[in-house]
Amino acid sequence: MQVMAPPQRSRVRANWKTAAVNFGADNQHIFTTHIGPFTVQPVTIPWQQRMKAMEDGVQVVASDKHCVSFTVTEFDAPFSLFPEDMRPLYQQRLNPEQQRVLSGLISGAGTLFPNLSFLERMVPSPVLGAGKTVLLRLWQPINAHEMEIVSWCLAERESSEAYRARSLADGLRNFGISGLFEQEDVELWASIGAASDNAVAREYPMSFMTAIPYLNAPLRDFKGPGDAYRPILSEVTQFRFLQYWNRIMTGDA
Ligand SMILES: [Fe+2]
Repeated sequence: MQVMAPPQRSRVRANWKTAAVNFGADNQHIFTTHIGPFTVQPVTIPWQQRMKAMEDGVQVVASDKHCVSFTVTEFDAPFSLFPEDMRPLYQQRLNPEQQRVLSGLISGAGTLFPNLSFLERMVPSPVLGAGKTVLLRLWQPINAHEMEIVSWCLAERESSEAYRARSLADGLRNFGISGLFEQEDVELWASIGAASDNAVAREYPMSFMTAIPYLNAPLRDFKGPGDAYRPILSEVTQFRFLQYWNRIMTGDA
């Protein structure tokens, strides 16, 4: 992959962990927080197919701390959301299992502990054609209440100029500082900080009730590394990220 432009940098009044865990388990908030852009942008993957992919998708925790989730479906034609001229490259470079995941990818997001995240999101559009956005994010703490976000857009080195321009434009339109998705996320991250930073909120522990049923039930038949959980809608990876953070802070890791 290649960085397509200088990174965008912004300062946000939010704790860096809020963003790190958002990208570590991306899926719970998508259809509430981001229902706006999903409504105004053309959706070419039917909702039922998307929801089924989320039910079937996995979240993975690797080495107790890194988090990733993938929403993968099966399309009639493999790699149908990818530009046609890129397909031979994937078929040549990836093994069959990697091809299966990538060719059906709707979105994937993850956080490398502690503060480096990525997002890979297919953006099929009847107007613009097949394509995707790939982001790399650094959540740089300034203090407990503020971070600097450094955001890069990436594309395959082998892709065409036209594809890269489209991918960059889509990345900035949705995830640039004034992007549709970005504005919605940042607003909530800042609100979480503000709502947590008072005497009443401090009296109550954060609830991870939706993580508990999954915590001791990783998939037994998962072939990849790490602990995998299904579906991708629970908070289990976020909980484990914060548990690890807590162990470091208390000298336990
Ligand atoms: Fe979001």
